[in-house]
Amino acid sequence: MNTDRNGQGKVLIIGSGAAGLTLALRIADSHQVTIVSKDALSEGSTRYAQGGVSAVLDNTDSLEAHAADTMAAGAGLCDPAVVRFAIEQGPSAIAWLIDQGVEFTRNSDNPGNSSDYHLTREGGHSHRRVIHAEDRTGQAIENTLEARVRQHPGIDIQEYHVAVDLISVQTGGRPTKRCAGAYLLDTRSGRVRPVAADYVVLATGGASKVYLYTSNPRGATGDGIAMAWRAGCRVANMEFMQFHPTCLYMPGQAPSADARSFLISEAVRGEGGHLLLPDGTRFMPAFDERAELAPRDVVARAIDHEMKRLGLEYVWLDIAHKGADFIRTHFPTIYQRCLELGHDISAGPIPVVPAAHYTCGGVFSDHRGRTDLPGLYAVGETAFTGLHGANRMASNSLLECLVFSTSAGADIATNPLPRLSVAKLPDWDESRVTDSDEEIVVSHNWLELRRLMWDYVGIVRTSKRLRRARDRVQLLQREIHEYYSNFVVTPDLLELRNLTMVAELIIDAAMRRRESRGLHYSLDYPERGPDNSARNTILVPDGFVGGELPVCWHHQQDSGTIGCGDQCGCE
Ligand code: FAD
Ligand code: SIN
Repeated sequence: MNTDRNGQGKVLIIGSGAAGLTLALRIADSHQVTIVSKDALSEGSTRYAQGGVSAVLDNTDSLEAHAADTMAAGAGLCDPAVVRFAIEQGPSAIAWLIDQGVEFTRNSDNPGNSSDYHLTREGGHSHRRVIHAEDRTGQAIENTLEARVRQHPGIDIQEYHVAVDLISVQTGGRPTKRCAGAYLLDTRSGRVRPVAADYVVLATGGASKVYLYTSNPRGATGDGIAMAWRAGCRVANMEFMQFHPTCLYMPGQAPSADARSFLISEAVRGEGGHLLLPDGTRFMPAFDERAELAPRDVVARAIDHEMKRLGLEYVWLDIAHKGADFIRTHFPTIYQRCLELGHDISAGPIPVVPAAHYTCGGVFSDHRGRTDLPGLYAVGETAFTGLHGANRMASNSLLECLVFSTSAGADIATNPLPRLSVAKLPDWDESRVTDSDEEIVVSHNWLELRRLMWDYVGIVRTSKRLRRARDRVQLLQREIHEYYSNFVVTPDLLELRNLTMVAELIIDAAMRRRESRGLHYSLDYPERGPDNSARNTILVPDGFVGGELPVCWHHQQDSGTIGCGDQCGCE
């Protein structure tokens, strides 16, 4: 790491998507920043985002409407104060992106919209409020922020480094522990080394790779959630794994670790696309009055229901009636990619299926990104902030990345922790491990885990399937633990270890929820319980650090908050 700038402390940011890059840029003028990514800097979910970023940018829209839509989608579990905070900061977050150089699509054909930019619509939104760069918004954001980060003299970039685990030290005060850095595996040399930092930020993205079919890239293996859990931090709402309703059906796609289902943006439905059965009937109006623009949990479940009822492998999505010019202008990436895969979306319907897409739960954190462990922050998809409740509304994720990274940066800058005076962090102990000659064990277990999560812990769950999944996952855990203890670590092994841990957290949370709400639907508990007693599912690890967050920080908010889980003592 470079020498410390202005004596303000060293910040180690693990992850270089929208969350990590934003935080790096927000803090790099005052602090020494190192940003780590396990792949190339630009790789992560952010660069694949299509639809856009939601924010109130038009006179006919309002903060109240955005908040009401977010909370309706969140099915009674959003924290109103957090929702309000995120939505109020939305317009300035977008202004900052534009200042950084992101070129959003201008407004040429949006009658009645006062914004300079074209705003599209997606599920759950009562207004057009999704600002976008054609249908490759993530790429525009990632490329722009990456270029800025690369130009900044105060940011040290470490690509192809995998964070293995966090390092905590005893402080001798209260709280008794503090985060002091992380072990990083250099994937090119195979060496693991400790890196010290005054502040460590988890910006590691989601965990959708725990499922066999997902829109997410290879690295979405829940590393941040698993590392925080092992470090003694609470994790919340892991049962709410979001399935995107419309990914392109790709028959014969080998379910390898690198395979990714190609997303057909919700904006396609926002601009008039219809979901059809094989006989051409629209089925969504029978499920919800908002039809194709109902929140994602509703649409994904309806598709799943129709597929099971009629024994289908996919349903159809049709936007062809909008005409080829409209389609090529609004959805150039989707149009092109579908053509490459043998489908012309301007000529007729295309086959679609749901796939795992987003992790609504994550590391328990507050609106400043603080976690239970002093010195450790969590931002972006890896964090649970209370914004999404039981189901994230479309395009609220990039908003969350931008807003909470900004507030985490401000918190680090304005509430400095005492500088760490650790003489030397312990070296990584490799004395008892040898090279593995059985890589097949790791790849086999990766596949087995993802398949069993898909089959037993998917869109529709039962208690029996959850129990079966838990037993199998515990067996895998034991095998992986033995493997981890005896062999030199590799990126694949680390990811498998993290994915298995996250799978256990998802199953545990799902088993605790004895109702159906948002993204969690159980045939054994099909009813949604009363909203006034709805609770987040807060899991507490062995060796909970106890930290500096109030036991239930939600209850420190002043606006009609909804309580937390039984274990946080907030009743
Ligand atoms: P990511 O962008 O996923 O970045 C994670 C980073 O962490 C990567 O740099 C990775 O290398 C690094 N990392 C992970 N683990 C480790 C480790 N152990 N060591 C070192 N580095 C590590 N949301 C919207 O709001 N609007 C959209 O239109 C939209 N479209 C989407 C389309 C697709 C296909 C997908 C997959 C998601 C979409 N989402 C959308 C969701 C949104 O893109 C993500 O939630 C968001 O980009 C997450 O950003 P992030 O910075 O938290 O993580
Ligand atoms: C999409 O474009 O459909 C993805 C939007 C999101 O995940 O928020």
